[in-house]
Amino acid sequence: MSQVKKFWRLLPLLAVMTLMLTGCGDPTLSALVPKGPVASEQLFLMKLSLFIMIFVVIVVFAIYVYVLVRFRKRKGDESIPKQVEGSHVLEIIWTVIPILLLLVLAVPTVSYTFKHSENYNKNKDAIHVKVTAHQFWWQFEYPDLGIATAQQLVIPKDKIIAFDVVSADVSHAFWVPSLGGKVDTNPGIRNTLYLQADEIATFQGRCTELCGASHALMNFTVAAKSDADFNAWVAKMKAPSVVPANAQKGEELFKENCMSCHAVNAAGPGVAPNLKGFADRDTLAGILEHTPENIASWIHNPQELKPGNKMPAFGKEAGGKLDDAQIKEIVTYLQTLK
Ligand code: CUA
Repeated sequence: MSQVKKFWRLLPLLAVMTLMLTGCGDPTLSALVPKGPVASEQLFLMKLSLFIMIFVVIVVFAIYVYVLVRFRKRKGDESIPKQVEGSHVLEIIWTVIPILLLLVLAVPTVSYTFKHSENYNKNKDAIHVKVTAHQFWWQFEYPDLGIATAQQLVIPKDKIIAFDVVSADVSHAFWVPSLGGKVDTNPGIRNTLYLQADEIATFQGRCTELCGASHALMNFTVAAKSDADFNAWVAKMKAPSVVPANAQKGEELFKENCMSCHAVNAAGPGVAPNLKGFADRDTLAGILEHTPENIASWIHNPQELKPGNKMPAFGKEAGGKLDDAQIKEIVTYLQTLK
């Protein structure tokens, strides 16, 4: 079959693939839809390098095609074109142009790289957040506010958020595509970065370093709020929880079974996600819809939903000690953690 025919046969397949790729654009998970100054500047660098590359490709191919056509052997013409090997002028031209292009690329790249890794920890106006990556969840501590949360980072919009990122176990990487990044989280090494959100919205975050069985499920969210809503959230996190009568049985079961790992107070980081404010989060375990059914199946057998995580199964059928009614009581209690 001729190459041309093969191409036409492949065309519908390429069209379908293009159509499928258009489904990949989640505006809350795209470095191409920046929602903060850091992400905007990083997008500018991406575009700059892309345009320079396109320019180089076009110029090189134009010269290539011109030379192919202009100097091809013609019937009756046995002459050899003028040889340019060792031409100083040409060598200087094709050395200087790339140097200039690299300078155009290097100056903004180096300056933004230093700017984006600037340590804002001493800045009084910045909100400080310590990020600790765990297999396979994220802990967010606000040392100046005395609160800690997990899986959903809450930030005020238009404020610089100064991050210290570390890992509790293996190497992970912290990335919020809409806001900028990313940075590795390594055990024993503290990395810093800052981000800022221009918009009130919830953005997606991802772990971008292969870190184990559930690497692909190690998601988190970033809720950017107005100043007033952020302050209200902080106040709510600090306020003591009130457990309604119908959730007291669940609270007791929670204390017996879950509290050795999970904190439910404002400042409690721990070996498992702090569940204070749990009921207000958008997702469960970073990946599931926040519904009572999903919470129950998570407690029943977390390994089925996020393989390799550290939480044991509590459901009787999965080898745990809680029956469905007891799990339901705990779910009722967890839903009061607003
Ligand atoms: Cu954590 Cu990948």
